[in-house]
Amino acid sequence: MQALTALVEQALAEVGGCTDLGALDATRVRWLGKKGALTEQLKSLGGLAAAERPAAGARINEAKARLQAAIEARREQLGREEIERALAAGRIDVTLPGRGEMRGGLHPVTKARLRIEALFRAAGFEVATGPEIEDDFHNFEALNFPPNHPARAMHDTFYFPGGKLLRTHTSPVQIRAMLERGAPIAIIAPGRVYRCDSDMTHSPMFHQVEGLKVDEGVSFANLKAILHGFLQAFFERDLAMRLRPSFFPFTEPSAEVDMSCVFCDGRGCRTCKYTGWLEIAGCGMVHPNVLTASGIDAERFSGYAFGAGIDRLAMLRYGVSDLRLFFESDLRFLEQFRTL
Ligand code: PHE
Repeated sequence: MQALTALVEQALAEVGGCTDLGALDATRVRWLGKKGALTEQLKSLGGLAAAERPAAGARINEAKARLQAAIEARREQLGREEIERALAAGRIDVTLPGRGEMRGGLHPVTKARLRIEALFRAAGFEVATGPEIEDDFHNFEALNFPPNHPARAMHDTFYFPGGKLLRTHTSPVQIRAMLERGAPIAIIAPGRVYRCDSDMTHSPMFHQVEGLKVDEGVSFANLKAILHGFLQAFFERDLAMRLRPSFFPFTEPSAEVDMSCVFCDGRGCRTCKYTGWLEIAGCGMVHPNVLTASGIDAERFSGYAFGAGIDRLAMLRYGVSDLRLFFESDLRFLEQFRTL
C-alpha cells in the first residue's frame, strides 16, 4: 500500500506539471489508460489472497478516482488559461493609431486627359471617340493620304492580316465625327494611338488628343487663339507659343506648335535641348479634300484641326522625364500622383 501511495503522489505531481492540454492527456493515458500504471495495479489484484482483494481493490479505485478528479481540475484550469491567452493575444488596443487603407488615385495620363477635356468642354467642344482598330479609309485615305504616299511610311503602322490597322493618330475620329454629325462641329477626341516605335520618348502605344472645329468663317487666327488659350490654361501660367510651317496631308496650311519651355521659361535647358521651345502639337486648316471626303461642303465651311500628345503634356505638367514610366505600372512612381 505504501507503493500505491507513492504512485499516486508521483501521478499527482505529473498532473500538476502539465502546462498544456496535450501533455495532460498523455499523462492521463500513462496512468489510467488500458496499460496505465494504476490499471496495471488493478490487474495485479489477482495475485493477492482472496481475503485481501476487496480492501486493496477499494484503495486502488479510490486512488484512481482521486487522480481522475485531479486531472479534471487541471484540465479545466488549463482550458481557462488557454482561453485567456487567446483573448489577450486578440485584444484590440483602440488607442493605437489607425492603419487605414491605401487610397488609389488616377493615373497621371488620365488626370491630364480629364483636365484637357474639362478645358475644351468649357470652350464649347464636345468629346468624341473612335475605334483603336481602324481601316485604311479612316486612318489614311479620307485624310488625304494618297495611296503609296510617303507620308504613310512616316507612321510606322501596325497592320493586321486582312488590312485593318491600329490607328496611328486620332485624326480618323475627325472623319468619323464629320460623317456622323456634319457641320458645324467642334470636338476633341482623346485616345490611344499606336506606332511601331520605342525609346526614352516614344512608346508603341501613346495618347493623343485631336481637336476639330468646322463652321462658316473659321480661320487660322481662331486656331492660334484656341491653342494658346488652352496651353496657358493647362499649364496655369503665361507662356509664349509659336507656329512653324509644316506638312500634314490633311491640313493646309499646316504648322508645328511650339510653346516656351515650362522648365526654364525659354532660357534654355536640357528638357528643351537649349532651344527654349517645346514642340507640343501639329495643326492646320482642314484640307478641302478632307471636308469633301466627310460629306461637308468645302465651299461653305472651313475648319481647323490639331493633334497633341497627352503623355507629353502630362510629362511637362508633372515633371516626368521618361515617357516609359507612365506605362510600367510601378506603384512607387504612380503613388506620387495620388494628390497632384
Ligand atoms: N495627326 C497628326 C499626327 O499624328 C497631328 C495633327 C492633327 C496635325 C491634326 C494636324 C492636324 O502627328
